[in-house]
Amino acid sequence: MSMLTKSRPNSKGHALMTQADSLRAVLDALRANVFVADMDHNMIYANPQAIESLTALHGPIDSSFGVDSKEMVGGSIHRFHRDPERIKQLLGSGTNFPRHASFTFGETTLHTEINAVKNSSGEMIGYCVVWTDASWDEKVGDLVDSVAGRADRDPEHVA
Ligand code: HEM
Repeated sequence: MSMLTKSRPNSKGHALMTQADSLRAVLDALRANVFVADMDHNMIYANPQAIESLTALHGPIDSSFGVDSKEMVGGSIHRFHRDPERIKQLLGSGTNFPRHASFTFGETTLHTEINAVKNSSGEMIGYCVVWTDASWDEKVGDLVDSVAGRADRDPEHVA
């Protein structure tokens, strides 16, 4: 029997999914940009992939917000929001989740998925965010639009 088949019936009780340090190790290992904020809107966690992406965006982020990207974790998430009151309202209502938005730093367009984290009683205990770099999709989209535009104007010669 394979390891996967063997572990499936017990997956809910598996140490990897029940122990806090193992769950943290799973978040650390994810090849996705993950951020976690508490109910006071402090950034309490960014996984290594997120730190790596922020480091790559170091210049544009520092110049947009005046915050050193290495000091992301530990302070308010609203250091990065142009209109903190609007974001506070969105986060304050438990009904706005999941929520997605896109924004651009320099050449990079980030797609962000924001969700509420709830405990087993359904109470909100924080927020989690995943960022995806959408720059490539955007470039491909622009290219498709420009080729489609050329095809409309001159159907015989689309190159
Ligand atoms: C767990 C952490 C975070 C949470 C919960 C959060 C939450 C939000 C929410 C709810 C929005 C509004 C989306 C909409 O308009 O529908 C937003 C927008 C935005 N966020 Fe965050 N955010 C987080 C971290 C960050 C970080 C680390 C950055 C930048 C480095 C950032 C930059 C932005 C920007 C630029 C916008 C566009 C609107 C604006 O500038 O105010 N956020 N965020």
